[in-house]
Amino acid sequence: MNKTLRISKRVSQMQKSAIHEMTRLSREVQDVAFLSWAKPTSGAPDHIRQAAVAAINDGVVDGYSESPGLPELRQEIVKKLKRDNQIDANPSQILVTIGAIEGLAAALMAVIDPGDEVILPSPTYSTHVNQAVIASGKPVFVPTIEEKGFILDIQGIKKAVTPRTKAIMYCSPSNPTGAVFSEEQLRQVAEIALKHNLMVITDEAYEYFVFDGHKHFSIGSIPEMKNNAISCFTFTKTYAMTGWRVGYLHASEELIPQIAKAHIPLAICAPVVSQYAALGALKGSQDCVEQFREKYLSARNLMCERLDHLKSVFDYQRPGGSYLMFPKILVEEGKNSMEFCKRLLKEAKISTTPGVDFGPTGEGHLRMSFCVPHETINKAFDRMEAYFK
Ligand SMILES: Cc1ncc(COP(=O)(O)O)c(C=O)c1O
Repeated sequence: MNKTLRISKRVSQMQKSAIHEMTRLSREVQDVAFLSWAKPTSGAPDHIRQAAVAAINDGVVDGYSESPGLPELRQEIVKKLKRDNQIDANPSQILVTIGAIEGLAAALMAVIDPGDEVILPSPTYSTHVNQAVIASGKPVFVPTIEEKGFILDIQGIKKAVTPRTKAIMYCSPSNPTGAVFSEEQLRQVAEIALKHNLMVITDEAYEYFVFDGHKHFSIGSIPEMKNNAISCFTFTKTYAMTGWRVGYLHASEELIPQIAKAHIPLAICAPVVSQYAALGALKGSQDCVEQFREKYLSARNLMCERLDHLKSVFDYQRPGGSYLMFPKILVEEGKNSMEFCKRLLKEAKISTTPGVDFGPTGEGHLRMSFCVPHETINKAFDRMEAYFK
């Protein structure tokens, strides 16, 4: 008898990630110039590693922590939120999570009922789309305005609201475009959310990596948004702690116990050794954060300079933040971004990510990461110049 796999509709609907597909294909190519991952290539600073080593030696990491996270870590997060995000919080408004990802997933699980609509500016981080789907929600894409630097289309968001809309979810600075949504626009998003009683779920993973006078703004700092904002943060990008898997979210005291109900079956608690590392990160010098920012800024400038020499192939918006950019492919073959990326990989040994992975308006683009050494950027663009000559 032919047995079908008993897979849920939710999971069957989820797209396989092109990022992982490109990574898999890239492994087969020797000496590849790799621009596919949004992952810092530097390691975590030494004082953070030492904080984890000390916690291991002190024998305090072998059990679970309180499920919302270590009290002393939540205290430090409260200080950071006040200092850098203008969010007035107390420890009972904080949930320490397994990176921003688990926080976002738990937030959606707590908010979304089957069929509820989640508005996502497009292009957006593909994981957000899958998170909405796995929470049984329906992603509703609202294209951003590319010519103006992928800013939000506020009128478009207003028009997209229906009686089924439950949430608006975005990342700023953006993966994949590098756009930093302005305070003015985010205040307009807050107005829409308050008018329709929607939840705004933010992904602020790249909060510190902003350039050219752009300012990161946390919608959770607006007092009226108290019960309408869930703000997700992470140590992953700020301190190059990708593999430590630790982040946190902020929400009101009424919301946190509800989100915690979703967090416990997903995680019980964030890895305790990583929570001690995170504590070391917040208590230690913050100089490393500015050093990372300067490094990414210099890499962004180099990537833009190199793109300026390929004007017949790409048109791009200068990213105001993150360490990613999202050039439009001007040549005919770019209409199918997956095929274009595969060809670039096979024929020019450059690994990028197809724009189609980031929502419908991502097609015809590719994502390039500049969290890599200058030599990788130069190698990739030397090859591109030779390839498109
Ligand atoms: C926008 C955005 N959010 C979240 C993540 C992952 O965050 P974490 O490692 O904290 O789960 C990434 C990683 O690329 C990202 O680009």
